[in-house]
Parts: sequence; structure tokens; C-alpha cells
Amino acid sequence: MIPIIVIDGPAGTGKGTIAALLAARLGWHLLDSGALYRVLGLAALQQEIALDDAPALATLATTLALRFDAGRVFLAGAEVTDAIRTEAVGMAASQVAAHPPVRTALLDWQRQCAQLPGLIADGRDLGTVVFPAAGLKIFLDASAEVRAQRRYKQLIEKGLNANLFDLIADIRQRDDRDRNRAIAPLCAAAEAVVVDSTALSVTEVFDRIWEEVRRVFPNLMS
Ligand code: DC
Repeated sequence: MIPIIVIDGPAGTGKGTIAALLAARLGWHLLDSGALYRVLGLAALQQEIALDDAPALATLATTLALRFDAGRVFLAGAEVTDAIRTEAVGMAASQVAAHPPVRTALLDWQRQCAQLPGLIADGRDLGTVVFPAAGLKIFLDASAEVRAQRRYKQLIEKGLNANLFDLIADIRQRDDRDRNRAIAPLCAAAEAVVVDSTALSVTEVFDRIWEEVRRVFPNLMS
């Protein structure tokens, strides 16, 4: 049996950071499922496919020439690691992700990432839909204001323009769409451990989750 840890939660809670730290500590594979939806959103924008055209988007999803390589992301051979991180692409990702045929088209791809010695996967529905039998399910949450502030800081540090009020509005809009869509909505699995990172540092969140990893996978620790 391949051990799997999933981390679900809304945008900007630090899921990706924590998932990468866990994967590095355990030497396991890493699946950033949001990147998958982001690449699809970017490809749709580039090819001018309407974000509400579910059949065309599902076809695009099945033919997506996507490659993840040591934290870098490639679409049809071109690196898109930074291009998929813009607010516009995040919003497009959230729109394409709301279509059931798109989600179905991406399921197998995600499930094939489960390989020994183990997988850390983060997203919205990893614990509820993609890997319902995962050994450990974490739901990482934080207030919209704090998530927007963290994003604001990241953008300013990169020398990019940012407006905190716009970021709060964007995060609320994306949360709303991700939580209220008909298929695989963002929600904590019944057995998920909920961690609220609003008042916690990255190290504190990691330590809290590491306790759970030790509890669930005691044999991994020497
Ligand atoms: O985690 P992220 O912000 O990179 O994800 C971008 C969008 O992709 C998010 O707003 C909703 C969608 N998404 C999803 O629907 N299901 C997932 N498992 C991961 C992301």
C-alpha cells in the first residue's frame, strides 16, 4: 500500500509550502494539484478557449502536454513555472476547475502520482475525491485577510504591483466559487485534521502537522 498524505484548503493558506517541506523531509513524491488546474487555465487563455466551454476544456485537459520537473512546470515544452502563478491564471484555474468533465479528465493523471515510497498531495478535493483512502488528511485554513496579506507580501517582495483590497476581494471570490461549485467543492473530509494557520508561522504549522504524521505513520520514524 502506498502511503498518502493530503493537504486540502482554500487559496493562500500555505498548503504548497507545507506540502513541499513534508515531501522533502520524508523523501516522498509531491503533487501540487492546483498547478494542474493553473496550467489548464493558462492553456485555455493562450488558446482563447472560453472558460465556460466545458467540452472544449475537457478535451484540452486530456491532451495537455504537461510536465513537472523538480518544482518547475512545463507546458508543451515551454517553462510556465512563474506564468501560472499570476492572479489572472489563478482565477481562470478556479473557473475551469468548476466543470465536472474537466475534473474527471484530470483524475487519472493525479492518481498516477501515487508512487512509492509515498505521496504528499495538496489541493481542494484530494481527501474527499482524488485519494479518499489517504492515510492522513489535513485541512489547512486561515482567514481571508491573513491569506491576502501573505500574498500581498509575496508580490511586493517580487517587485510586482499589488493592492491589498483587490487581493482580499479576489480571494473571497475564488473561495466562494471553489466552495460552492456542484462537483468536488472545497470542504474538509469528515476525518480530516483541521489546522488553522491564521496565527501560526510556517514552522508552527509544520510542527503541528508533523505530530500527525508521526501519529499516523509511526513506522516511518526511526
Ligand atoms: O491551489 P491553487 O490556488 O494553486 O489552485 C488554483 C485553482 O485550482 C483553485 O482556485 C481551484 C482549483 N483547484 C481545484 O479545483 N481542485 C484542486 N484539487 C486544486 C485546485
